[in-house]
Amino acid sequence: MPRRFLDLVVTPSVAREQRRAYGVAHAVGDDAAPEPLGPDEAAFLAARDSFYLASVSETGWPYVQHRGGPRGFLRVLDPLTLAFADVRGNRQLVTAGNVAHDSRVALLLMDYPARRRLKILGRATFTDAARDPALAASLARADGRARVERVVRIAVEAWDWNCPQHITPRYTVDEVEALVAPLRAKIVELERAVAARGSSSTTAR
Ligand SMILES: Cc1cc2nc3c(=O)[nH]c(=O)nc-3n(C[C@H](O)[C@H](O)[C@H](O)COP(=O)(O)O)c2cc1C
Repeated sequence: MPRRFLDLVVTPSVAREQRRAYGVAHAVGDDAAPEPLGPDEAAFLAARDSFYLASVSETGWPYVQHRGGPRGFLRVLDPLTLAFADVRGNRQLVTAGNVAHDSRVALLLMDYPARRRLKILGRATFTDAARDPALAASLARADGRARVERVVRIAVEAWDWNCPQHITPRYTVDEVEALVAPLRAKIVELERAVAARGSSSTTAR
């Protein structure tokens, strides 16, 4: 299990709660180096079409937003750097404003069918697309429909997998379509067979 994640999330008050409840506590974190993503984490990210992104407001409120796009839109640039295109949206810029004040973010990525979830802690920077046109172009959606206003880079600090308990398997429309496609084909085949049998018995009468 990656240590860096607990190093970051176990603060003195978290350790106190652990000690009070269970008599032992994880050591309060040191200043260890960031933990790079491995091939399993990179493959998991490449298959995701959404994630939840939490940031901290200037007044200390936690804030979480859903981000969505084509599979792999959260790109692994290298094992310590993620990036995605911030497309024209609701013009609130809450995450962008939060990050300008405090770059720390938390990501939660779900694979509901496989009941897997990955948490990532990192530091985000928003850059106007005009200032980083090459990255903006490489992150833009293939259909070109969403206008890229900013690129977001996330320097990975730590990550951790969660256990599958209490994750209800859920499927997207595309996933359901892929699952039922062979059944649909079978129905068509059986309907043809039934129709052929019906017409041959009519001919026989
Ligand atoms: C027409 C429209 C299309 C949008 N498309 C996406 C999208 O494809 N992916 C996404 O993550 N956010 C999309 N959003 C953006 C979100 O509404 C929001 O602007 C963005 O997630 C930033 O939110 P924040 O201000 O809470 O940080 C879209 C918004 C609008 C109004």
